[in-house]
Amino acid sequence: MTAPLLDVRGIHVGYGAVRALRGVTLSVGPGEMVSLLGANGAGKTTTLRAISGMIAPQQGEILFDGRPIHEMPAHEVVRLGIAHMPEGRELFPTLTVEENLRFGYLPRRKEPGYAEDLERSYTLFPRLQERRRQAAGTMSGGEQQMLAMARALMSRPRLLLIDELSLGLAPIIVDLLFETLDGVNRSGTAALIVEQFVHMALGHTRRAYVLAKGTVALEGASRELRDHPQLLASYLGEAETSGAAEERPSGKPSAHKAGASKARASR
Ligand SMILES: Nc1ncnc2c1ncn2[C@@H]1O[C@H](COP(=O)(O)OP(=O)(O)O)[C@@H](O)[C@H]1O
Ligand SMILES: [Mg+2]
Repeated sequence: MTAPLLDVRGIHVGYGAVRALRGVTLSVGPGEMVSLLGANGAGKTTTLRAISGMIAPQQGEILFDGRPIHEMPAHEVVRLGIAHMPEGRELFPTLTVEENLRFGYLPRRKEPGYAEDLERSYTLFPRLQERRRQAAGTMSGGEQQMLAMARALMSRPRLLLIDELSLGLAPIIVDLLFETLDGVNRSGTAALIVEQFVHMALGHTRRAYVLAKGTVALEGASRELRDHPQLLASYLGEAETSGAAEERPSGKPSAHKAGASKARASR
């Protein structure tokens, strides 16, 4: 096997007394797309935050392209080629689409190619071009997620970290975002994706890790995990792994936190 692009080795992360991660080990190969699954509170977001330098692990190490990054601040990590699409998008709502994209370009502002990258964003998402002078906060949830993805790509990452791509979005938008992501991946960008719609994630990745209580409880080929819905359900504790919800974001039980926000934000 080729050397991993991302190599997370036994990281521990705490928030005060809360031990969120207790020895997480995972890897992503060059150009590979990998799922990171787990029930609410399992530590998925914390894992992505540790990789992108937003929070420092107390133990363990994180290597990117063979280089230790676990003591680097986030602004240096992004310059090395890791872009993070955070949970909740974190756009600048009062700034325009184009101004938000400009922020994505900041990490490589000393290099040429801004116009080209902007063009690429608009080719990926023509809707953003139509709305380029519109304030980000006035757009639909789906358009905002397109913008979050386009902004992340402005730094020309080699690895994209995506936290809950589908959260609160209508199925047709989720399909479009995943198709775009597949295209980005085919052109060579690796991705580690956290996704509530397990079958969606497994359908778009070759390998997956399942976190439970801050450690990797299960890992393997996505296809094999798909063939063991009961095993998955035992870690995820959600009806989404049953047949009825397969591949269909709308199958999410609405009592779940994510389901409630979907009902609110779908359009
Ligand atoms: N800012 C925080 N302060 C204290 N505890 C936190 C904070 N963020 C997350 N946690 C705790 O860390 C654990 C992992 O959370 P998180 O990484 O957000 O899980 P997931 O994304 O899988 O739902 C949970 O027990 C959660 O309550
Ligand atoms: Mg999370």
